Amino acid sequence: MTTFNRRSWIKTLSTASAGAVLLKPTDILSAIPPDIEERTNGQLIRLSSNENPYSPSDKMKEAIARINKDICRYPNSQFSKLENMIAERENIDPSMVVVTSGSREGLKAVGMLHSLKGGEILTCLPTYKALLTYAEFIGAQIRAVPLDKDLKFDLEGLLQNLNDDTKLAFVCNPNNPTGTLLDPHQLERFCRQASTRVPVFVDEVYYDYIEEAGYPSMKHLCEEGLDIMIARTFSKVYGLAGVRIGYMMAKPDIASRIRKSLMSGTNIMGVRMAMTALEDQSFRDFSLQKNREAKEMIYTVLNKKNINFVKSHTNFVFFETGKDISKIQEAYKKEGVIVGRAFPPYLDWCRISTGTLEEVKAFVSATDRVFT
Ligand SMILES: Cc1ncc(COP(=O)(O)O)c(C=O)c1O
Repeated sequence: MTTFNRRSWIKTLSTASAGAVLLKPTDILSAIPPDIEERTNGQLIRLSSNENPYSPSDKMKEAIARINKDICRYPNSQFSKLENMIAERENIDPSMVVVTSGSREGLKAVGMLHSLKGGEILTCLPTYKALLTYAEFIGAQIRAVPLDKDLKFDLEGLLQNLNDDTKLAFVCNPNNPTGTLLDPHQLERFCRQASTRVPVFVDEVYYDYIEEAGYPSMKHLCEEGLDIMIARTFSKVYGLAGVRIGYMMAKPDIASRIRKSLMSGTNIMGVRMAMTALEDQSFRDFSLQKNREAKEMIYTVLNKKNINFVKSHTNFVFFETGKDISKIQEAYKKEGVIVGRAFPPYLDWCRISTGTLEEVKAFVSATDRVFT
């Protein structure tokens, strides 16, 4: 099996033009290490998957109880009601909204639609890989530009690497695993320029965590009719990761094409919970406040230990350990904490998700011992 470590990454970089790497078919898949998130029966504290630990709220619990009698019904008849609610929240036309089974279903559907005839998907790495792994599985190659020195998407590098084989450009903002946020003007300029040549996918799954007042979604570009697709989710701030519900926004003809390509779609539970979530503003505010407090606790211990980290616009923090991630994972696991996986080529960095404040306290005291 091809391994994808820092040395091979740097070696490939030095031979690639303008910093871009055309990954070999197995590189993306083999970069994913064996699953460390084995079932732990609640013994270990799981801070590895960027979930919201506070769900379900009381309103959600009531909604779950009410679903009972509808469990025998197909959910389709309720999709349009949810699409209307999302459209109202986003202030866009309902024809631009596609409800998906987690945003991952939308990512995969788009990955598939743009790789059926081969070609390349252009992105920066590391980033969230669902679209990329699926596109690669279907038949595309991944052309990857490194993140810039601030661990942000290198938009100029992406523009320089667009070529006749590019089928789609993928941008994640804020980015997972680095938590970085792009300058909105630069992102918009990139979207406008790139979308004259190829469709652009902007993953805005962590959009709800952005604290910058008035930070714009790129959805207005879809309204202008540009070839832009946006992914959002109910898995994070709304705490519905286990239910599988998300949505996409795109201009109506693209939205309709994505809708047709979905494999299973979501279920009645997902639809009803999402409707409840949209009406449950206090849970959303509560989750955001707890996330802020958790991040402050993480920043404090990292500062105390003189550990370099990236300011996060998400519900996780990426920090530089100076040691191989597999060793760090083991050290934290001995302390009862599961941290994030490896993100090549940043093999001496670690991603930690915000859990409950109690869980973060456990991470803080573990950090004291892991970094003596
Ligand atoms: C950037 C990004 N996009 C998409 C997803 C998929 O989330 P979901 O399918 O739960 O909506 C995740 C999950 O962590 C993510 O980090």
